[in-house]
Amino acid sequence: MQIDIMTLFPETVGDMMNESILGRAQERGYIRIEAHQIRDYTLNKQKQVDDYPYGGGRGAIMQADPLYRCWAHIRESCAVGRSRTIYLSPCGETFTQAKARQLLADYDHLILVCGHYEGVDERFLEECVDEEISLGDFVLTGGELPAMAVADAVCRMAPGVLPEAACYEEESHWNGLLEHPHYSRPEEWHGRRVPEVLLSGHHENVARWRKKQSMLRTLRRRPDMFREADFQGTKQDRKLLAEVYEELRRDPSTAGLPPQSTD
Ligand SMILES: C[S@@+](CC[C@H](N)C(=O)[O-])C[C@H]1O[C@@H](n2cnc3c(N)ncnc32)[C@H](O)[C@@H]1O
Repeated sequence: MQIDIMTLFPETVGDMMNESILGRAQERGYIRIEAHQIRDYTLNKQKQVDDYPYGGGRGAIMQADPLYRCWAHIRESCAVGRSRTIYLSPCGETFTQAKARQLLADYDHLILVCGHYEGVDERFLEECVDEEISLGDFVLTGGELPAMAVADAVCRMAPGVLPEAACYEEESHWNGLLEHPHYSRPEEWHGRRVPEVLLSGHHENVARWRKKQSMLRTLRRRPDMFREADFQGTKQDRKLLAEVYEELRRDPSTAGLPPQSTD
């Protein structure tokens, strides 16, 4: 996977993306992430990239032409394979793990466009952008954090970046559930003990406990996700599910239970 990020702050983006796991994966050639300074593509001495909005109103708008020149340069010199251009915007489709998986499966190259000020001239979006993605229902000052979030979520699943697929397949949001709780040494901290089953060395019981905690946590925190989860799988899953419902029946604080179906 290759990702090119169009931004007014390439150093900030580069610093983040070249660190730790993603930095090492780039050194080893599994992924490539590059940040491009949009100001380098202006035709004026001041390197101005914004101007006033037609129709009046507050703030400034990023002009279409510097964005277009930067985008065209990337398309001509960096694009590989199946390429997609995404504008990070609070008006876009909300980003999810499923979306990250789809982007990794369907494309070899992403161009991520970071807006600033009041946003971007619509004509650039119409001409060059394939889709808009939002990080959530809130407004940030710029598109860099959302772009880095998308790049990170997509690239960490690229082959070679993490030691094995289980590293991301067993995490929250992969199979429609939230992950179970984690514990590390010491066995007791501030009077709180690690659950006995995790000290037992019994791998089957540990796996069972973790799956059940994952179900419970999802049902308590994200009943919307739980309602969508598919438990048609193993007999053991259905048994665990019955136990989960039993526990929740004894805990009146949990609201929004979906209808029981355990057979
Ligand atoms: C201050 S925002 C502009 C908001 C815009 N005027 C609106 O109301 O939709 C500046 C830039 O930050 C980025 N941005 C802000 N919030 C975002 C979000 N939730 N998801 C993705 N990008 C966001 C976009 O690139 C946007 O162009």
